[in-house]
Amino acid sequence: MATSTKKSPENGQSSAASVPASPVSGNRIVTLDEFIIRAEKDFDYATGELTGLLRDIGVAAKIINREVNKAGLVNIIGVANSGENQSGEMQQKLDVYANEKLIECLKNSGECCAIASEENEDIIQVPPIGSKASNYVVMFDPLDGSSNIDVNVSVGTIFAIYRRKSDPSGPATKEDFLQAGTKQVAAGYVLYGTSTLLVYTTGRGVNGFTLDPSIGEFCLSHRNMRIPENGSTYSVNQGYYSKFDLEMRRYIDNCSDQNYGLRYIGSMVSDIHRILIQGGIFLYPSTRKYPKGKLRLLYECNPLSFIVEQAGGKAMNTQLKRVLEVTPSELHQRSTVAIGSPAMVDELKAFIERYSALPL
Ligand code: AHG
Ligand code: MN
Ligand code: MN
Repeated sequence: MATSTKKSPENGQSSAASVPASPVSGNRIVTLDEFIIRAEKDFDYATGELTGLLRDIGVAAKIINREVNKAGLVNIIGVANSGENQSGEMQQKLDVYANEKLIECLKNSGECCAIASEENEDIIQVPPIGSKASNYVVMFDPLDGSSNIDVNVSVGTIFAIYRRKSDPSGPATKEDFLQAGTKQVAAGYVLYGTSTLLVYTTGRGVNGFTLDPSIGEFCLSHRNMRIPENGSTYSVNQGYYSKFDLEMRRYIDNCSDQNYGLRYIGSMVSDIHRILIQGGIFLYPSTRKYPKGKLRLLYECNPLSFIVEQAGGKAMNTQLKRVLEVTPSELHQRSTVAIGSPAMVDELKAFIERYSALPL
């Protein structure tokens, strides 16, 4: 049984990737709600807000899951009328639906004071319910890999929770969102795959919950997830090979020389989930089209880096900086990224150091 260390909410992260001592009892079913309520008791200063937020996200995930599962039966696949989102990318109908449901669930409870979404240009204020001012902000990618929906391939929802920096008596500000990933209090993802899985961390290890459709509950299924130290697959859009920098091309050549398998779903959350379970490395380096990388620091790279690190993995950008230590300057900032088994990220780092023309 893992140990638990009491912490203040400011100190959401620790290097000890352990399951809180209390949540799991024998072999009986432990629901997500039960797990987070018990885990909350390990925080000295817990107010229940974080617990409420995680529960809100769990509810939104079930609603999104219901709609994702019937895509094809009802008229919900395909491009939305809105056309493009703020990043100039095609918005799918389910992107819009998932975004609306998450915002609605979070607004209903008033457990956060503001929201930032990949699908919205600006932050969204959440009016307090009664006199209660919330201390948290939430950011998310409502549907990751959404171009896969029409072809029945797994998609996901990614989220991150931070404590606000601004005075709780006033509105939240952009600065509340422009915090380094190390300040995340919680992060997680929901994978709408062969089964629906919610994986999250509050900085004390990573746990996964599978949705049991017969009872409509997420049940603990992946306890204290640990990423393998090494892997035998790499995950990158190799179609862009000729657009990658030299060091990245040399690294990919090496993967091929070593007979690593190539696995790329095109849905980051699905690729990262596989890597978390089986080991491997996920890469999205700079290309000519996306010189700073394609993936969004706040909505994709930070939460997934936090989870992978908490499971014992590593996450850096191709400038060799730890992703979680980058201070963002824009809500929709993009980042290059390399995430995965620690030995594979270290191997890539050695290649970049060796072949990069950049002063290091
Ligand atoms: P989103 O659907 O939220 O826009 O994210 C898509 C992302 C990510 O999930 C995936 O790994 C990547 O885009 C795929 O990009 P390429 O098609 O350029 O490989
Ligand atoms: Mn995405
Ligand atoms: Mn998305």
